[in-house]
Amino acid sequence: MLVDVAKVNEIAPGGLKAAEVNGREIVVCNDAGKIYAIDRRCGHMNAPLDLGTLEGYILTCPMHHAQFDITSGEALSGPVPPNLGDEVIPEGIGKSLQHVGMLMSHIKTCDIKTYPVKIDGDSIKIEIE
Ligand code: FES
Repeated sequence: MLVDVAKVNEIAPGGLKAAEVNGREIVVCNDAGKIYAIDRRCGHMNAPLDLGTLEGYILTCPMHHAQFDITSGEALSGPVPPNLGDEVIPEGIGKSLQHVGMLMSHIKTCDIKTYPVKIDGDSIKIEIE
């Protein structure tokens, strides 16, 4: 089934737009005028990818910076630990961050689903079951 998700002029090149279709959360992406649609939830810990950044075909998650290929949904890289620079972390918080980091290292970053896109006049439609 083809479903309208946005108008072509709503998403500038490099832009992202969230949409909900039949209970599914989708992100529509504009890579230099070519439109793609992927699941909205990050394959790492479900952060909303429409709040991330798109450079070319690479979408970077806003939470831990895993990267995805919007043309295929492939996870290109996993989460990146925060760079705290020279900041001195209070001991209790430092131990807590180490614990969180240890737990996160066991969470796999999965590929995400992509959807076929059709441009129909000024409408962006995606194919969804
Ligand atoms: S939730 Fe996206 S990288 Fe962790």
